[in-house]
Amino acid sequence: MNSIVSKISGTGHYVPSHVVTNEELCKRVDTTDEWIRERTGIKERRIGDPKQDFPSYMATQAAKMALEEAKLSPNEIDFILFSVTIPDFLFPNTASLIQENLGMTHQCPSLDINAACSGYVYGMVVADALIKTGAYKNILLIGSELTSRFNNWEDRSSCILFGDGAGATIISRTEGNPKEVGILKHILGSDPTKKDALILRAGGSRIPITKEILDNKENFVTMDGQSVFKAAVKTLASQCEFVLRESNTTHDQVDWFIPHQANLRIIEAVGDRFKFPKEKVIINVDQYANTSSASIPIAISEAVKDKRIKRGQLLLLATFGAGLTSGALAIRY
Ligand code: UT7
Repeated sequence: MNSIVSKISGTGHYVPSHVVTNEELCKRVDTTDEWIRERTGIKERRIGDPKQDFPSYMATQAAKMALEEAKLSPNEIDFILFSVTIPDFLFPNTASLIQENLGMTHQCPSLDINAACSGYVYGMVVADALIKTGAYKNILLIGSELTSRFNNWEDRSSCILFGDGAGATIISRTEGNPKEVGILKHILGSDPTKKDALILRAGGSRIPITKEILDNKENFVTMDGQSVFKAAVKTLASQCEFVLRESNTTHDQVDWFIPHQANLRIIEAVGDRFKFPKEKVIINVDQYANTSSASIPIAISEAVKDKRIKRGQLLLLATFGAGLTSGALAIRY
């Protein structure tokens, strides 16, 4: 029986023009191109212009591309959901800055989501729920991250991992059989017992910035890489399994596996488990490194533009990040 379901009606992305190669990082920290490629799969990343590439700016560029693809004007968007880890300002929220940048002249609710790298998948589930209320038609969902701002450029174990960029998706209302179109199944999770494994402690209400904090470089990300790595493989695998099982989908019915792009070894470990051939796994970590919640929507947008992703195909998205938040969903494009 038909009911309200969500569809992806537009996709867009933006990455800063400045490319930073592994070789360039070797001049800043004690590392090698070989180590970074072997342990992470990363070859280069984009680093934003600090005078221009704020999360709101990059998000706006990605949103404009998505609007064009969906053939919608900004005033036809009736909700902005914005995923970001470090926003432009602590407040007001960044979604409202994007609303202004897009020149929207109507009252449009604008909401920031912070689920770190998992924010886009969380956002897609929230957008789908909002669409199903019947109150909204076109939701602009964006992940945009200026990770270079929270990188400790003296810490070789983390600064090599991240990159900047934005990806946008428009989620629109349509009608169809919910077992066949829209989001077929999702799962979201969070494991706060591992919150210390990936954290930026200072700068919020609990630990304000002081000279001592700055001197000790506590205003940057810290990560227990191995602990996050192990949790990521385990969680991604079990959540993908859940989504496939609960949507009565077999592995070979999935057209594209689009995981969060943190480390190629994590992606390969999960892909191997489900026997997804490499050609069915969308990868951009080699070019852009870990762009946090922008990684999946950038990957989707690029694959739509180069026609790898086609209408009617089944996409399996899976993510994890600080929190440790996680999620997976199957959506018919
Ligand atoms: O979106 C979620 C965000 N985070 C992640 O997904 C990260 C998940 N974790 C990872 O991707 C991996 O754990 C890392 C890439 C961060 C690290 O790889 P690893 O294979 O787990 O390395 P390790 O931490 O076990 O370190 C192995 C060695 C250490 O040296 P010793 O103690 O064996 O002498 C590190 O000091 O590699 C050293 N090392 C480096 N060497 C060269 C750490 N970083 C570097 C580096 N260059 N950049």
